[in-house]
Amino acid sequence: MRAIVPYTAVLFLILFTISSFRLSNDTPQDHLPAAFHQERRNQLRKLLPPNSVAVFFANAVRNRANDVEYIYHQDPDFYYLTGYQEPHAMLMIFSEDQKNAQGEVYKELLYVQPKDALREMWTGKRQGVEGVKQNLGMKQVFNNTDFTDASIDFTKFNKVFFLPFHNDVRDEENIKGDLYDLIAQFKQKVNYPADYNAEAHQLYELIQQSKADKSVNAAQTIRSYQQMNERLKEDKILSDYAQAQDEKTREEIAKQVPQININGYALDGMMNTLREVKTQEELKLLRKAINISAVGQIEVMKAMHPGMSEKEVQGIHEFVFRKYGAEFEGYPSIVGAGNNGCVLHYIENNKTKLENDLVLMDLGAEYHGYTADVTRTIPANGKFTKEQKAIYDLVYKAQEEAFKLCLTDSSVQAPGRVARQIINKGLKELGIIADENERHLYFPHGTSHHLGLDVHDRSNYGALKPGMVITVEPGIYIPDSSKCDKKWWGIAVRIEDDILITEKGYENLSKMAPRKSEEIEALMAKSSVLNKLALPKLD
Ligand code: GLY
Ligand code: MN
Ligand code: MN
Repeated sequence: MRAIVPYTAVLFLILFTISSFRLSNDTPQDHLPAAFHQERRNQLRKLLPPNSVAVFFANAVRNRANDVEYIYHQDPDFYYLTGYQEPHAMLMIFSEDQKNAQGEVYKELLYVQPKDALREMWTGKRQGVEGVKQNLGMKQVFNNTDFTDASIDFTKFNKVFFLPFHNDVRDEENIKGDLYDLIAQFKQKVNYPADYNAEAHQLYELIQQSKADKSVNAAQTIRSYQQMNERLKEDKILSDYAQAQDEKTREEIAKQVPQININGYALDGMMNTLREVKTQEELKLLRKAINISAVGQIEVMKAMHPGMSEKEVQGIHEFVFRKYGAEFEGYPSIVGAGNNGCVLHYIENNKTKLENDLVLMDLGAEYHGYTADVTRTIPANGKFTKEQKAIYDLVYKAQEEAFKLCLTDSSVQAPGRVARQIINKGLKELGIIADENERHLYFPHGTSHHLGLDVHDRSNYGALKPGMVITVEPGIYIPDSSKCDKKWWGIAVRIEDDILITEKGYENLSKMAPRKSEEIEALMAKSSVLNKLALPKLD
C-alpha cells in the first residue's frame, strides 16, 4: 500500500534533518564557536599580500596496522581556521573577493568529505556539505570530489601559499577525492615542479627582492641556510649566487631564477604570527586542559605507593583526563621512575614497581584541541630522601627565578638562561660538577616553548607578548654511572608549568598542582579512593 505522507510529517522530516546537523545536547557544548574560526580566517587574510591565496589540507589518515587506522587527529592549522575535524578536506582563503561563473562573490572555499550512508554506518557520522554550512558557518562548501573539476585559475594569483606536504599520505584507491587526490589535483593546477624545494624557492625570492632592496643581503642569508640544510648546497643557482665575487656576476645569476608563483614556505610564518597569541576563547580551553592535567597530578599524588607500576600511574592520569572529557593526550604520556626519568621523552612506562624512586610525570590532557604540558616529580613512597630533596629544591628554585622573566618584551630564552645559572651554581655546591662553567649533560634542554594546539606550539619566537602561553620546565637528570658520587645516581627531576604572559606580568595556569616539596609530601600523606580498588589477580 502506498502511504500518503501528510504535509506536517514532511515538515517534521525537514526540521529533523536540519536539526540533526547540529551537535546534540548530550555532547560537549563548549567547542570553539564558528565565529572564532571565521575571525581567524579574517586575520589570516589581513596577512596575505594582494592577489594571493592560502591553501590548507586536512591531516592524513595514518595506518596503524593491517586495516586499523590511528585515531584521526585534525591538523591544528586546519582546525584553527575551520573547526572541521574530519579528514580528506581542503581550504582556500583568498586575499580579495573572488567571483564564480554565476557571479557569486566569495573569499574562501572549503572542500569536505561527502555524506555516505554506508561508510557512516561503519566509521561514524560525517557532517557533509550541509552540516558544515550549518555548524561551521562557511558558505562556499563543496564535496571533495568536486575539486578536480573546479575552475580555479591559480596562475592568475601573484602568490599561491601552502604548507609543506608530508610524504606519508596514502592513496585510498577506492575513494575519489581523498587527501591524496586533492593534493595531486592541486599540484597539477598550480604546475608544481617535480623537484620543488620550498626553502630553495624562498631563497630565490630573496634574490629577487635584493634587486630592489639593497639592504637585503641574499648571498649571506643563502650561506647561512646552506650551513643548516645540506640539500641547499646541491642547488646550483643558490651556490653560484652565494659564492659570486661581484655584483655583476650576481645579477647574471639572478636572471636564471625560475619564475613560479607558488610558495610552500611563507605561510608558516603567518600561521606562527596568528597562533602564538591566544584569544580569550582559546585561553578558556587551554585553561581547562591545564586544570584537568593538574587534577590528574593531584589524584596521583594521593594514590601513589611503591607497589604501583608506571603504567598504573599513567592510567590514573589518563582516567582523570577522560573523566573531564579530554579527547586525547597532547603527546605520549611520560611516567619514569628513577633512572627512567633521565630519558627526556621516556614513553615505555613499563617499570612494574616504582619502589622508593622519584617518579617524573610529564602529561598533558588535550581538550577540544588545546593541550596542557605539566610535569611533576614526586617520591613514590611519599617522602623525599635528602639527596632527592636537594636536587628537587634546586630545580624548584631555578623555576621560581625563571618565572620572573616571563614578562612582556622578555624573550622565550630568558627564563632558561637564569634557570641554567642557578642550576649550575647549585650543582657545583652539591659537588656534582667541579666548576659552574663545566660543560655537562645534567640539564640538556631549554626551559620554554610555546603551548596551544600543539604541545610545541607555533611561534616566530620573538619577544613575549600578552596572550602568549609558554612552558617553564627546568630539570636535572643524573643517570646511573654518571661521573659523580653514586648517591645521586638515578635521580631525575623536571618541574614544568604553563605560564600565560599578561599585561601586568604572568599567570601560572598550572599552579593548582602542588610544586613545593613540602606541599607534595603533605598531599601524598592523604589517601585516595583509588587505593580501595581491588581487581582480581590474573595469570
Ligand atoms: N612534554 C614535552 C615537553 O615537555 O616539551
Ligand atoms: Mn614542555
Ligand atoms: Mn612536558
